[in-house]
Amino acid sequence: MRWSLGITWAAAALGIGLKMYPSHRTSLTQPPASRAQAADSKVYRDAETGFTFTEYAAEYDIGSSIMFRIALPEPVNVTNYDVVLQVVAPKDVGWAGLAWGGSMLDCPLTVSWANGQTLIISSRYAPQHAMPPTYSGASYTILKTGTHVNSTHWQFTAKCTGCAYFSTGGSTKTQLSPTGVNRLAWAAATGGVKPSNPSSNTSTLNVHDVYNYWSHDFSQAGNSNFGSLVSKDAGK
Ligand SMILES: *[C@@H]1O[C@H](CO)[C@@H](O)[C@H](O)[C@H]1NC(C)=O
Ligand SMILES: *[C@@H]1O[C@H](CO)[C@@H](O)[C@H](O)[C@H]1NC(C)=O
Ligand SMILES: *[C@@H]1O[C@H](CO)[C@@H](O)[C@H](O)[C@H]1NC(C)=O
Repeated sequence: MRWSLGITWAAAALGIGLKMYPSHRTSLTQPPASRAQAADSKVYRDAETGFTFTEYAAEYDIGSSIMFRIALPEPVNVTNYDVVLQVVAPKDVGWAGLAWGGSMLDCPLTVSWANGQTLIISSRYAPQHAMPPTYSGASYTILKTGTHVNSTHWQFTAKCTGCAYFSTGGSTKTQLSPTGVNRLAWAAATGGVKPSNPSSNTSTLNVHDVYNYWSHDFSQAGNSNFGSLVSKDAGK
């Protein structure tokens, strides 16, 4: 399916809208999400990069999952903080998208894919149900350690500035709670179908085949050596 089938994208996006759960992200005027809230993620310690992540396995096909892993600094600036994101995908995933706001709309989207041995990260934001345009409000630093492609998988590890604190349109800013559970969303194109211009992070994206939501626990993802791990892993 290609984006030129605009109606398909719109229908898929509408599906997201209809199935949307109440978002658990917090605004500055709301109390942070409770720790007690059930999370779908669990703690994962990555020996390669040294980060402690919380991870969620997004099952896009029976027995096949994309891992979404998130690490935070500790102590954390509760208003605005960087995160480290690690995505591990089987090679039949053409692209994988993470929506930081629990719905596809009005939040940073991290879209990624492998182009040969190179990992491409594309920053997007969807103000409406259409192919998401590029977004300059979030920026990424790829960490060389933890970023690679082999015969079965591609994976990247990157620091994101602007994924956890962002504008939801107009002047309203939202933060993801660093001490609670946040509702996130994912989407993917399967069957190895890559974006139409896979070497470019501004490429047109084909319509996603699958998507869903989950509750990700940020409270167990703290790393007291966050800054030094970022430097070490970036500089391999
Ligand atoms: C925390 O983030 C806010 C918003 O970006 C900023 O104004 C504030 O200075 C930060 N605080 C610290 C201690 O870095
Ligand atoms: C594409 O990559 C360049 C270089 O890393 C970066 O400056 C730019 O913001 C990226 N664009 C998008 C849409 O992610
Ligand atoms: C390929 O990479 C994935 C994760 O990126 C890893 O789980 C798997 O063990 C690797 N396979 C080989 C043969 O190294």
